[in-house]
Amino acid sequence: MKRRDFTAALVAATATAGCATRTPAPATDPLRLDPARYTTQDLTVGGQTLRVRAFEGLPVVARPVEPAYQALNLFIPEAYFNGGRVGGYDASTAPIFLPNGVGGYMPARPGTLVNRMPPPPGQAAAPSASAMALSRGFIVAAPGARGRTLQAANGRWTGKAPAAIVDLKAAVRWLRHNAAHMPGDMERIVSNGTSAGGALSALLGASGNHPDYEAELQALGAASARDDVFAVSAYCPITNLAHADEAYEWQFEGLREYRNVATSMLDFRVQRQEVRSALTDTQMSWSAELRAAFVAYVNGLGLRAPDGGPLALQVDGHGSLRTHIKELLKTAAQRAADGGQNLSQANTHAGVLTLQGRQVVDLDFDAYVRSVGRMKGQPAFDGLALETGENQLFGDARTDKRHFTAFAAAHSSVAGALRADEHTVRTMDAMQQLGDRRSRVAGHWRIRHGSADRDTSLAVPALLAAAARERGATVDLALPWGRPHSGDYDLDQLFDWLQARLQAPR
Ligand code: DHB
Repeated sequence: MKRRDFTAALVAATATAGCATRTPAPATDPLRLDPARYTTQDLTVGGQTLRVRAFEGLPVVARPVEPAYQALNLFIPEAYFNGGRVGGYDASTAPIFLPNGVGGYMPARPGTLVNRMPPPPGQAAAPSASAMALSRGFIVAAPGARGRTLQAANGRWTGKAPAAIVDLKAAVRWLRHNAAHMPGDMERIVSNGTSAGGALSALLGASGNHPDYEAELQALGAASARDDVFAVSAYCPITNLAHADEAYEWQFEGLREYRNVATSMLDFRVQRQEVRSALTDTQMSWSAELRAAFVAYVNGLGLRAPDGGPLALQVDGHGSLRTHIKELLKTAAQRAADGGQNLSQANTHAGVLTLQGRQVVDLDFDAYVRSVGRMKGQPAFDGLALETGENQLFGDARTDKRHFTAFAAAHSSVAGALRADEHTVRTMDAMQQLGDRRSRVAGHWRIRHGSADRDTSLAVPALLAAAARERGATVDLALPWGRPHSGDYDLDQLFDWLQARLQAPR
């Protein structure tokens, strides 16, 4: 591997700055890291204290439209400026951890080292993924991203698709642009995110250097550099939005009632209220139509299971994809049992699991689906009244909310509702990018989707994993037993997995 003398690079940077007063000022590079502008933070992880330099609010494009979001916070162990090592890495070998803080396709500011969510009452704050990454020797580059609710003073919407992924790509390009001026191995960038952020993490790994994004990146003044990444960590990615409604009906068809949790703030306290609703007869019949569309879609993909067998579905929704997901659930339940979790009461009562002692013998997929329950109405993502976050994601500069599937556009309850064009939908879709040979795909993927997660169908992560595998990636997919919609819950395992991938020969 090529090694850089980082200290020499810093000295050179200082010397250049010194010359600038004598000669005419060179055109300044707004994307160049100023190595002198940082604060020092001390971080304690697992009883060990680590000093880091924090470079915050770095613009990732030369012509931002939302400067507070199109920016990066960079955290670098102090040791890398002094010839030191952390977790076996040095200034030239340190990998880069790139966590995005996006949730709900909302705007996200650049990340900090503390968890966004406070710990549950009575529990100590757990280290954030970024703090863990630093303690393992990673450099942390925590980018912001525009989101679906941003609006400029002139009334134009500024964060609609594909703004968020464009901003993350700009951050990756910024890192490569600064490779000679900071520690870190820019061929070892690891993306991480949860839910909408998991989808964006997957999309970053699926769409490296794809021409779909070039015009927007250039218009914003992003650095001219590659934007592919080395590895993806994605928790419960809400992706494949073009087919997520179909996938949802494939899994939850037949369940009329759905239970969602409405969140509101009262006197700065988060209030959660369960909202129960039921599908109408018409919606119940649409489920079958959407399931049939999903069967055709899956069979058209022609993807394979890890054992090389086909991932297909019969017209009734049964078939090898369903069996594959069932086996993943059984593996997850077995892992939970092996880890000491008591699976016997709730699951066997509901007929979900058949156990012999601590051995998981069988899982009834229909009983599992009933026990998890339906969370969303129908269609789950492309709402007929343009009521979902995804409808708002697919607006454009002049339109707040649009449809993005043919089905919802045809059945829309909103007079004059518009539909996003297919190009825009593709720019947000990790599945479609994985199917396009023009993208450079991350070589390593870790996908986690809790078995109790009802925000999207389990078919979504299963197909994502298969599509990444099809592009030659190593993929580790698991459906952790009992986990609801959440992320960053198994950081030791995540970083152990990453360490093994990083040590593999190039
Ligand atoms: C998220 C959750 C959803 O159910 C969804 O449709 C989109 C995003 C989220 O938690 O980010």
